[in-house]
Amino acid sequence: MFTSRACIVLRQRKVFFLLVAFIFVLLFVFGSFSNPEDYEKEYPLQLENEQLVICYESNTDYRKSLYATNLPDITDEPSTTQRNNHQPQALQQPVNGTEPVIYFVTPTYPRREQIAEIIRLGQTLMHVPRLHWIVADDTTSCSDVLNRHIRKFGIPYTQLASPMPEMYRARKNAPRGVANRRAALNWIRRNQKKTGVLYFGDDDNTFDLKLFSEIRYTKKVSMFPVGLIGDYGISSPIVRNGRVEGFFDSWPAKRKWPVDMAGFAVSLEYLALSPNATMPFKAGYEEDEFLKSIGLKLEDIEPKARNCTEILVWHTQTKSSKSPTVRISMDRQKLDKLNLGALLRRLESMGVNHISESE
Ligand SMILES: *[C@@H]1O[C@H](CO)[C@@H](O)[C@H](O)[C@H]1NC(C)=O
Repeated sequence: MFTSRACIVLRQRKVFFLLVAFIFVLLFVFGSFSNPEDYEKEYPLQLENEQLVICYESNTDYRKSLYATNLPDITDEPSTTQRNNHQPQALQQPVNGTEPVIYFVTPTYPRREQIAEIIRLGQTLMHVPRLHWIVADDTTSCSDVLNRHIRKFGIPYTQLASPMPEMYRARKNAPRGVANRRAALNWIRRNQKKTGVLYFGDDDNTFDLKLFSEIRYTKKVSMFPVGLIGDYGISSPIVRNGRVEGFFDSWPAKRKWPVDMAGFAVSLEYLALSPNATMPFKAGYEEDEFLKSIGLKLEDIEPKARNCTEILVWHTQTKSSKSPTVRISMDRQKLDKLNLGALLRRLESMGVNHISESE
């Protein structure tokens, strides 16, 4: 009798623990299901605290004659015929000023590699005629140091200050570059740019000059492979008979459009058909949701880069590291008699390192 009652108490306890565990599982499942609803809140076109600050702008092209204009278009395909026996074609058509303008949107953020990246990218873009460079910086105030390094290229440009809203900054997987691209989209809309081509080109990618002549006459949306993406080393549309049929990407993640940000261009005529086009603050799904927001259909996609057999853009990525603090034991006046005073101050202004007399 005594033992059987103990048994019942034990069983009741077991049931109680199972019940508690069940409730926890329920809470967990419910919690993860409510996440997509959170994302729904990330759609508004213009957040209340979203900023679009135009820092500096130039619409004049100060560049000298373009080196790239007469570069021969030589493919890197292994050839069975003898080398150099084909007639080179011009890479860029001669410019007459009526070609569609490429709006090249570069999100950037202050870090020690920022200025080096901007110089490298600017020197690529110097070769591209009819291009307007929109550089959107993830800061609340306009960076004069950044501007000095943008304007020296003579490329028509707009420098924006477009900080990520604080609420997203705290996340461990913060959606970087979204506020910047949204600001660029708003700039395009506000300035009534209805002809030309939109392209998102990050500051740490490598661009083949041929990319620009490929995307310039995009009718709706053009797509092409991006090298050095994910486990396959490439993200590319799958093309058959000159038409896009699917996507080759190592991270499909249930995305309708599993493509990289650098793997497509959109004509502004087509973009203008979707006045609510936007990019949500949702890390990993920016491309997918943006392309959904412009109502893209598979048959609207034009494959470029020889039916997606060539790689004209690479997701190179620069290894980043923290800026060190350098302790200088020599006093400032002595340092200024050497080159080191000016040199270290310049590096500090670019955020490459910090100088301290005590640390
Ligand atoms: C792409 O493929 C289509 C169909 O096979 C062909 O007609 C077209 O010429 C190709 N384009 C290029 C640039 O090779």
